Amino acid sequence: MWKYVKKYFHYAILAALFMIFEVSMDLIQPEYMSRIVDKGVLGLHHNGIGDIHLILTLGLVMIGLVILGGLCGSLNNMFVHMTGQNIGNEMRKDCFRRIMAMSFPQIDRFGTGSLVTRVTNDITQVQNLVSQFVRGMIRTFMLMAGSIFFMFRLNHQFGLIVLCAFPFILGCMIFCLWKAEPLFTQLQAQLDQINGILQEDISGIRIIKACVRELYEKMRFKKSNDNLTKTQLHILIIFVFMNPVMNALMYIVVVIILLSGSVQVKTGMATPGTIMAAITYTTQLLRGILMLVMLFQNISRGTASWKRIKEVLHSQPELKAGDFKGDTLPQGQIEFRNVSFAFPGTDQLVLKSINLTVAPGETIAIMGATGSGKTALISLIPRFYDVTEGSILIDGVDVRNYCQRGLRDKIAVILQKSELFSTSIKNNLIWGKPDATLEEIRSAADIAQADEFIRTTTNGYDTLVAERGMNFSGGQKQRLSIARAMLKPAEILIFDDSTSALDLKTESSLYTALNKARPDSTKIIVAQRIASVRNADRIIVLDRGTIAACGTHNELMHSCKTYQDIYHSQIGGEDHE
Ligand SMILES: Nc1ncnc2c1ncn2[C@@H]1O[C@H](COP(=O)(O)OP(=O)(O)OP(=O)(O)O)[C@@H](O)[C@H]1O
Ligand SMILES: [Mg+2]
Repeated sequence: MWKYVKKYFHYAILAALFMIFEVSMDLIQPEYMSRIVDKGVLGLHHNGIGDIHLILTLGLVMIGLVILGGLCGSLNNMFVHMTGQNIGNEMRKDCFRRIMAMSFPQIDRFGTGSLVTRVTNDITQVQNLVSQFVRGMIRTFMLMAGSIFFMFRLNHQFGLIVLCAFPFILGCMIFCLWKAEPLFTQLQAQLDQINGILQEDISGIRIIKACVRELYEKMRFKKSNDNLTKTQLHILIIFVFMNPVMNALMYIVVVIILLSGSVQVKTGMATPGTIMAAITYTTQLLRGILMLVMLFQNISRGTASWKRIKEVLHSQPELKAGDFKGDTLPQGQIEFRNVSFAFPGTDQLVLKSINLTVAPGETIAIMGATGSGKTALISLIPRFYDVTEGSILIDGVDVRNYCQRGLRDKIAVILQKSELFSTSIKNNLIWGKPDATLEEIRSAADIAQADEFIRTTTNGYDTLVAERGMNFSGGQKQRLSIARAMLKPAEILIFDDSTSALDLKTESSLYTALNKARPDSTKIIVAQRIASVRNADRIIVLDRGTIAACGTHNELMHSCKTYQDIYHSQIGGEDHE
């Protein structure tokens, strides 16, 4: 935490100084009040003759002190918030940077909902903790210590009475905080859950409506929300009951002071003004204690949140990159050497002993039943995941020895699920080449068979893409994703079932344009349709994580039963030889 605090420590110091001034003003007031009552009103030293001049002078001084105190309070508030806000801002930036560097398994482990809560709500809690700490800690302790000190100065007996009540008050406070502490951690975990559900349900609202699952989802949300409310109420109840107990304790102190004061006034050891000042100090002390409770409440909650933020900030990128920049001539050879793979956290191998060499410029198609490991296989090439056994070499160098940029620059991947972002079409496409000219963007879109439909949109390449590309059809989204990859000057192109939503004619034009424009690139095409793969140099049939067959369309038609079955199941429908 110090790393963040030290950067804005000067603001915290200024805030503390103004706070010291503010509280000092509060602490001086009762002394003036006691003098006004004893000398100005009761005229104790002038045979009962009051002094109106003294009342006016001291009254004006008191008003001046209040104004000065208020000004210092405002300045303190300003610097406190500048400290808290800036620290929160830095933490958010750092968390975001860490999340961007996380590997897929790390993101899966945290969960999207939890990461969102950590970067938003948890950081706000820590921000509050910092603000409360700078503002509340000094105010509370000065108010409490000052009140006790001035009480002793006024009258030793009054001071002792307050001091005796102190252990009871502290004991009550510690008990409540001890009860509430675990609830704060629980509260943040419940917030994670709610954010997770919200995220899933809002992004999947269409399918929820299509399957008429609204009621079920409402119940699921209600359950989580009820749990959160229950915890919040639980915490509230603890602190709601604490306040009256504290108040009662302090008023017992006030009554004892009054009793002891009345005896002392008779013997001339105390004056009515002293009793008044003592009661004001007691109420100030009570205010200090109640603030301390609030402060500890914020500290408890902030500490629980800080622990969760630390988990993000301390997460180390799991995929340790090498330092090879990939500065060989463009080639694009890929070699799988005895590769086996299980997803992190599972022990079931989804790929088993894969041996495969893809030559530069070769087009390899991968077919296989759903769940056979096609996506898993191609995910290992750009190192979305690391192999469990064996190794993958690109242009003769293990992918683990490449620096991240060097490796990813060589590869353009079009994922199975098209991801578009809410910005213009042009900005969505230039990810692969930020300095691309409009001409280059158009020719990439042309290969992807997207140029034509982009031109028919209202603002052409400047048309805004809605969240997750919701204003485009499935096939249009796929073509935009392909255009994005086409713009990247990569030696290896990987298509993960990314033409599945295109009609056969558009798909065929796309592959023809692709072969013409990028004859030297190595292409890996994952597809379910024979029509998408039949022109590939080699077709690989994957069966439950192993290579069942490998060859050209004609070879497989003669030698591979699975391929023949797929062919015959499709020939009656869309694909005619
Ligand atoms: N993130 C993950 N964690 C754990 N297991 C996973 C994960 N993703 C996929 N799997 C499992 O790995 C196996 C292979 O999945 P993969 O996504 O590679 O299949 P696929 O051949 O691409 O299927 P499809 O044609 O449906 O896209 C499946 O059994 C799947 O359940
Ligand atoms: Mg897949």
